[in-house]
Amino acid sequence: MSTLSTGHPTTAELHAKFAIDDVVRVVDAASEFPVVEIDNAWASVRIAVHGGQVLSYQPHDEAPVLWVSDTAAYVHGKSVRGGIPICWPWFGVHPDPAMPSHGFARNLFWQLIAVKQDEDGCTEVLLCLEDDEQSRLLWPHAFQLQLKVSVGKTLSLALTMVNSAEESVELTAALHSYFDVGDIARTSVRGLDGVEYIDALQDSRRFTQSGNVQFDAELDRIYQQTSGDEFIDDQLRGRLIHLQKSRSDSTVVWNPWIEKSAGMNDFVEGGYRRMVCVETGNMGADLVRLATGASHTLGVTISVQRLRDN
Ligand code: BG6
Repeated sequence: MSTLSTGHPTTAELHAKFAIDDVVRVVDAASEFPVVEIDNAWASVRIAVHGGQVLSYQPHDEAPVLWVSDTAAYVHGKSVRGGIPICWPWFGVHPDPAMPSHGFARNLFWQLIAVKQDEDGCTEVLLCLEDDEQSRLLWPHAFQLQLKVSVGKTLSLALTMVNSAEESVELTAALHSYFDVGDIARTSVRGLDGVEYIDALQDSRRFTQSGNVQFDAELDRIYQQTSGDEFIDDQLRGRLIHLQKSRSDSTVVWNPWIEKSAGMNDFVEGGYRRMVCVETGNMGADLVRLATGASHTLGVTISVQRLRDN
């Protein structure tokens, strides 16, 4: 079997193995960067095999739900700026500055395991990442990570982490979801009223949210103990993006605003106005402890509710 220079199956091979007539194909988003493209009865979705990263989700008759920077780079070794990068097995900056921020799962090439179409017209894609020499240099544990993406009336992601090591492990994780909004100044996040958060911009001090989360400057917070539903209220587009979490106790809300986004070369100029990250995860005091052989599935189901016609 021919392989990419990285030792993985080629895009043509993945297409030959996993394509489904009129619904699923595997194409290159850039050189050696295979993407599973789904266009079924409900929606169009693109998933990069690198990083197991969902890149786009657009229900038919809706504007895109996920944001991707127009200047994003599609290269191996780093995540694409936008979509849903997977932060694992740690979230945020590592105490050792030589280690990658947000873990390594988003920076590695995953395996495409299966693509299925069920009788209701829903499509399911399964991807997997296992420890290898490269991952063990960064995190010395055996593991299996599986991402199941289901595309139907809603978009669901289920990230299952299995501890295959002989020791127990502690980890933090996030489905680092970038949502596309009409105008950040007219966007709010509902469902976090009264919740305690760690403010990354104020020396990680703790505060309590009062009302909906609104945006008029850089914002970077970890909300703790958040198992309820969340809604992104996009006034300009007249829609709510509904997030139903599963086995997630933390939510990160992030917008880099003007200065920080200008410092990121893969963040299109002015892009901060058109996005907000509301990340489903477990971090801070909500970290996950896994005994040998134990597993945990972190999940989110995303759907759109119209407040008024387009
Ligand atoms: C968010 C963090 O989750 O990710 C921010 O809360 C961080 O602090 C942002 O800046 C982006 O991180 P990165 O590594 O993808 O640039």
